Amino acid sequence: MAHDKCMAVIGAGTMGRGIAQVFAQSGYKVRMFDTMPAALDSAMGTIKKLLEKAVAKEKITADAARQALELITPVRKLAEIGTNPLIVEAATEKPDLKVEVLKETQKHLAADGILATNTSSISITRLAAATDHPDRFIGMHFFNPVPVMKLVEVVRGLQTSDETVRRTVAWATEVGKTPVECNDHPGFVSNRVLMPMINEAIFALQDGVATAEAIDNIMKLGMNHPMGPLALADLIGLDVCLFILEVLHRDLGEDRYRPCPLLRKYVLAGRLGCKSKQGFYKYE
Ligand code: CAA
Repeated sequence: MAHDKCMAVIGAGTMGRGIAQVFAQSGYKVRMFDTMPAALDSAMGTIKKLLEKAVAKEKITADAARQALELITPVRKLAEIGTNPLIVEAATEKPDLKVEVLKETQKHLAADGILATNTSSISITRLAAATDHPDRFIGMHFFNPVPVMKLVEVVRGLQTSDETVRRTVAWATEVGKTPVECNDHPGFVSNRVLMPMINEAIFALQDGVATAEAIDNIMKLGMNHPMGPLALADLIGLDVCLFILEVLHRDLGEDRYRPCPLLRKYVLAGRLGCKSKQGFYKYE
């Protein structure tokens, strides 16, 4: 059935499902693609639960929740995402995998469609170069938890056109986010500033300066951060933090970005944060 507003999300992980939810709540027909049925089931379950919570808190009506849920179609075959004016890729943060996914995904763009990536640290310029229309490629970096966080970091690659930036800013605004533009550079702005703080908190823990709880309390109560850097690292995923720090260290070439050995140790042990139920803290 024809629908004025449509888009597709590639990947049903934490970020992909959040992006699907915010577009659906703004009336977009969303096709959410993932190769893993379990990820799609889990994503639909999470979205349903969050919408029900919003209804219970009287933030949205039961009708609005039902409509949003109905607008999301989980799909297991890329061919089923149709033709879209906007596709947001939120696949795993592996450069080669992203390139492969983007090359396939671009076939499902409308003639003037825009392909956006939610990458947190892979070069937009590099990913754009792997596509047929690098001028219509852009970074659309959402923040976790996506339904709550206001920011979309709109990252312009070397080849991204002004028109692509303008349309991406308009989409982000339409779904209730606040877009902020920046240029492609390792870590963009968000992670270039955030990750050294998280890394330093891990060094402080490693050096025995204080317990994890004390480090987080100092930053929460003294700096008014909503959560401490170690709890935030657990939320983001310790593997993701390590990956971003490695990008900063390699691409900016400065020692100050070297990942803390304790972070590496946790990742090697499989303590990845909330998603593995253990990181700097334990989770039920
Ligand atoms: N999904 C959806 N909604 C969520 C949620 C989740 N995972 N977690 C909390 N919420 C909602 C709650 O339902 C609640 O909604 P209402 O206001 O409608 O009731 C609201 O958020 C506040 O939640 P709580 O009262 O339970 O807890 P809180 O006030 O401590 O807020 C928080 C939780 C929003 C996560 C807050 O602690 C926070 O803002 N933390 C910092 C998050 C942050 O920095 N994120 C960016 C990470 S970096 C990143 O994502 C990008 C990258 O590249 C690494």
